[in-house]
Amino acid sequence: MVNIRYRAQETVKEVGAKVMASRQFQEADLQTHHHFTTVARHSFRVACICFCICHFLYVVFKIKTNWQLLIVCALLHDIGIIGRDLKYRNNSQCCQQHPKDSVVVAQSILGDLDDTGRDIIGNHMWPMTLTPPQTIEGFIITIADKYCAVTDLLPMNNRSRLINPSFG
Ligand SMILES: [Fe+2]
Ligand SMILES: [Fe+2]
Repeated sequence: MVNIRYRAQETVKEVGAKVMASRQFQEADLQTHHHFTTVARHSFRVACICFCICHFLYVVFKIKTNWQLLIVCALLHDIGIIGRDLKYRNNSQCCQQHPKDSVVVAQSILGDLDDTGRDIIGNHMWPMTLTPPQTIEGFIITIADKYCAVTDLLPMNNRSRLINPSFG
């Protein structure tokens, strides 16, 4: 288990290097998320869990996924939430709108996203939003995001910044 955690962290850092070096992602490490963490730290953990799920699906069921795209999109799935207090009237509007805003910001960093990329980011809040994911990668992030939203509350994951990334 320690091995897969380490491998996930190193893989996310490698595959997501461009995103993690971006100004927008650095900003995301300054905004509090889920009370105890930051948007960047939460997103890093979501990307790690996505990698673990993909690894599990392949090793156990031989199901192949686009895990590289999933990692990149997981790092950016909440990027549109930056500045939430100024952008959204309430939590409900934030919940509905931030996935769409994240797609726009992600495209400004990565260039045009394909349908799978838009599905991963744009539908990650399902079932809180109406449209379910259309791809396996999109479905995986809905699970990883909810798992991390809960485990972000655990003391072992409560770091204010993404200085020494780890996930549980
Ligand atoms: Fe979100
Ligand atoms: Fe999230």
